[in-house]
Amino acid sequence: MLNLGILISGGGSNMESILKSIKQKKIPINPAVVISNNPDAKGLIRAQKLGVKTEVIENKDFKDRLEYDKKIISTLENYGVTPKNGLVCLAGFMRIISPEFVKKYKNRIINIHPALLPSFQGLHAQKQAIDYGSKYSGCTVHFVDSGVDTGPIILQAIVKIKKGDTEKTLSKRILKEEHRIYPKAVKLFAEKKIKISGRKTIIS
Ligand code: GRF
Repeated sequence: MLNLGILISGGGSNMESILKSIKQKKIPINPAVVISNNPDAKGLIRAQKLGVKTEVIENKDFKDRLEYDKKIISTLENYGVTPKNGLVCLAGFMRIISPEFVKKYKNRIINIHPALLPSFQGLHAQKQAIDYGSKYSGCTVHFVDSGVDTGPIILQAIVKIKKGDTEKTLSKRILKEEHRIYPKAVKLFAEKKIKISGRKTIIS
């Protein structure tokens, strides 16, 4: 069975939705480890409550991004999350990962972004959508490539922006959709139903 590593920095609600689906036997993958760069991430406790091993690797202890990512990679490998037999999910992991990490786990790292990519990449995507005057936003699960929020799209969900929405109210409704589509994307990957063809994914 595939081994899953989830990288978080904060609340970990997306992580929890994936782990719960796995526990309910909806996804054929072994939840091997959750790694946080933030020792105070609430998601660590959530993962432990679900019986999943956790590790904290703080970036301040490493001289640069590459050294940090090498530690992440060796930790993932220790838990069996290898480039051959692993999937890495970024779930609110507030760091850009190095090209070396992306290359090593080619097409095996996925991320969730709270906007309909390619619109509103980067931070505060929900606020960006409101400020732009968009009528709809949503969320996107995509493969991670060497850019920021640019890899092939796996799944998206649409959320209507309401009059008077704030970053907080819109984020809340988008998060609900994130919790629905992220486990779905992990399941598609685990069941080998995603093929990548150039920029596109083909879901069978
Ligand atoms: C989510 O909105 C996700 O799209 C973004 O960071 C947030 C993480 O939330 N990348 P959580 O930690 O999963 O609750």
